[in-house]
Amino acid sequence: MAFHARHLLGIEQLSPLEITTILDLADRYVDLNRRTVKQSDTLAGMTQINMFFENSTRTQSSFEIAGKRLGADVMNMNMATSSVKKGETLIDTAMTLNAMHPDLLVVRHGASGAVNLLASKVNCAVLNAGDGRHEHPTQALLDALTIRRAKGRIDRLTIAICGDVAHSRVARSNLILLGKMGNNLRLIGPPTLMPAGFAELGATVIEDMREGLRGADVVMMLRLQKERMDGGFVPSMREYYHRYGLDAEKLAFAKPDAIVMHPGPMNRGVEIDGEIADDINRSVIQDQVEMGVAVRMACMDLLARNLRADRGRKIAESYV
Ligand code: NCD
Repeated sequence: MAFHARHLLGIEQLSPLEITTILDLADRYVDLNRRTVKQSDTLAGMTQINMFFENSTRTQSSFEIAGKRLGADVMNMNMATSSVKKGETLIDTAMTLNAMHPDLLVVRHGASGAVNLLASKVNCAVLNAGDGRHEHPTQALLDALTIRRAKGRIDRLTIAICGDVAHSRVARSNLILLGKMGNNLRLIGPPTLMPAGFAELGATVIEDMREGLRGADVVMMLRLQKERMDGGFVPSMREYYHRYGLDAEKLAFAKPDAIVMHPGPMNRGVEIDGEIADDINRSVIQDQVEMGVAVRMACMDLLARNLRADRGRKIAESYV
């Protein structure tokens, strides 16, 4: 099995072969998830703790369902009522949980790099469920699986990532993944929402949305992340929709069979027209949610195999 990592912290650390390994295994979990009886015993006896310091609907529930389908005992920490509110640091909280011997720790945090720091302090597998503006690896993997299933491949495609690139860990992880797999990447958005370093990741930056969408196979929309803005990034929501909101007229510049994606949650009428989002002939937004559970099952399965092997080795060494 071509996957040797102890943690899933970002796409940056994964090779194209590891990415393909995850996607291939996820394809098998898609089949399992479509059955009436979805239970597997892959993680039986293991404990998974979900620690979400930032709000989440789909990512947290997706990780919870994924763990339960694999037979793990899953606990959701309610960070709003935890001792973090009393001033306990992230590391103290993690160390406390670590002492309870979890096997998988799923973490979302508002600070970029917080999940990597935490991973260095615990002896279980850590999965990054989004850290600040840094990475959101399972989102990029589920997007890749969605694209691969819709287009039949995950290379040589023209992919336009549009909107609030500056605040988006989704854009960053996708850019790294899709770049590694050899695609033609475009970033579309106003200069105020376009960070300087992103073009270095191998994408062409285009300010005009129609020009950016021309001939695209995949149109990936991003949420305008108002909670990460301190004003002044966009003139008004109306103006933003006019210039960067995906509607039928702008979508007509992409290929006729181009798919429309959005990680959710959507701001309808801000970055995307509601009718486009709901058009089952163009939008794969619901597929993304379905692929999310399968991809998370695959990631946890692979990490659990490595964890078992690692622990087995340590026990063997202690007898020498
Ligand atoms: C994304 C996130 O939290 O980074 N959402 C998600 O995980 N589905 C994108 C977003 O919040 O806009």
